[in-house]
Amino acid sequence: MTIDTTLTLRADAPIGTISPRLYGHFAEHLERCCYDGLWVGLGNKDIPNIGGFRTDVVNALKAMPVPMLRWPGGCYADHYHWRDGIGAPESRPRRLGMSCGLQVEDDNGLGTHEFIAFCRLIGAEPYLAGNMGSGSVQEMCDCVEYCNASISTDLTRERAANGSPAPFGVKLWGVGNENWGCGGSYDAATYAQEYRRYATMLRHVDPKAELVICGHNDAWNEEVIRTNRNHYGLMDHFSIHRYWINGNAETNFTEDQYYNLLAEAQDTENFIETTSGFIREYTPAGVKPIGIALDEWGVWHPEARPWGPTHELMREPLSYEQADTMRDALAAGIALEVFHRQCNVLTLANLAQIVNVLHAPVMTEGAAMWLTPTYYALQLHTPHIGATALPIEVTHGTSVPNGQFNVASSAVSATASTNNSGTAVTLINRHFDQAASVTLVTSGLKQVVKARILAGDSPRAQNSIEKPDSIALADLSVTADGSNQWRIELPAHSMATIEFA
Ligand code: AHR
Repeated sequence: MTIDTTLTLRADAPIGTISPRLYGHFAEHLERCCYDGLWVGLGNKDIPNIGGFRTDVVNALKAMPVPMLRWPGGCYADHYHWRDGIGAPESRPRRLGMSCGLQVEDDNGLGTHEFIAFCRLIGAEPYLAGNMGSGSVQEMCDCVEYCNASISTDLTRERAANGSPAPFGVKLWGVGNENWGCGGSYDAATYAQEYRRYATMLRHVDPKAELVICGHNDAWNEEVIRTNRNHYGLMDHFSIHRYWINGNAETNFTEDQYYNLLAEAQDTENFIETTSGFIREYTPAGVKPIGIALDEWGVWHPEARPWGPTHELMREPLSYEQADTMRDALAAGIALEVFHRQCNVLTLANLAQIVNVLHAPVMTEGAAMWLTPTYYALQLHTPHIGATALPIEVTHGTSVPNGQFNVASSAVSATASTNNSGTAVTLINRHFDQAASVTLVTSGLKQVVKARILAGDSPRAQNSIEKPDSIALADLSVTADGSNQWRIELPAHSMATIEFA
């Protein structure tokens, strides 16, 4: 059976700008993400590298692309002391690296200068998560001064001596991470007040710093925002995290479990809307509401976590690594649709994490590297980055099984955007096993310049070290179907982007 769907592009009702920051990523010193996945060390003769960063990964990330990168955690950030990661590598201290219950030896080879160099290499804006849990206000102020000040001080002279006379110009600063849990087990009101102290002092050091305050669940979020409602100017972005954990096994999932995971990805929109409601409620009249920073998002399968539903499937030893299938790529695509729709309230988002760990687009093993279906899902969205989001209406369609037919349960969904080079539409056929025949109704679009599809034999299809190219992008043919109508055939569980002149 084939699903018939009609989608109508509403070029007359632009939503807003899709900030490049919505396509951010997250690199934590957790297992093999930063060390091994990105950083193999200066002078490494076995794995080709650029200043210690794997050349293959650098090239893959440039081509994905990565407009923004958050570092060094996660939970790791609230143990991290930035001074450990500057100066001559051989004299940097070896510390106990801690995140997510793991304890590792960290030689601090990858520190602030290296991170900034990496961001420049791949074209990413840096986003630094500061240490509130085991640090101090002064320590974070010093880090901001070291990175951003241009006046001649001991700290900026030290930065110059370490190779960077010019300031790094880091705009985004996280004031702690998950401070309701690993970042200090605060209660909401105490954290909100403590945040104010940090933010006040940080603003003195760099009035242009964009500060990110830590959120959690609805109760915490409302209380933090309410507590700080008279100090609105101290907050720029409100951080929330959302991991999808109800899809059961990473690869051997059932049809129901497939839909559960996609529904969870879709539900991220409700979380953003609820958070946005709290922000609106407590924003003083005439003041621009602060943005929402979804600075950790993605699938977290039970094989890679010791907590939550079906965690008995956890693989030992726990590596935080998991398989990435077509299902995960579609879940990421659904989230990106949400981000585009919410681009007026969502100011940044970071997929967790960038290499090897959790919902990673890139995997490495020794000298080998392969790209996951999620990598290709992200790459398919490149034309939307920085463009103006446009609504797409489902004017006729079929719901996914058990869904009442509405936009959120339509088997075929889509997002669109436009910029000076043209208009792009990305479509997802979420159906587990039925192909879709889509009529796309547009106005004023004359020519398809590029159309590519991401599809696999099964929703469980994946790439691996043995078969790195099972899943990749392929060209798609799109036929003009009358005036301003286009016919697109989508296999089950697939995603495609069509670029129009
Ligand atoms: O991404 C892994 C962990 O998940 C991060 O360290 C933490 O912020 C979150 O709980």
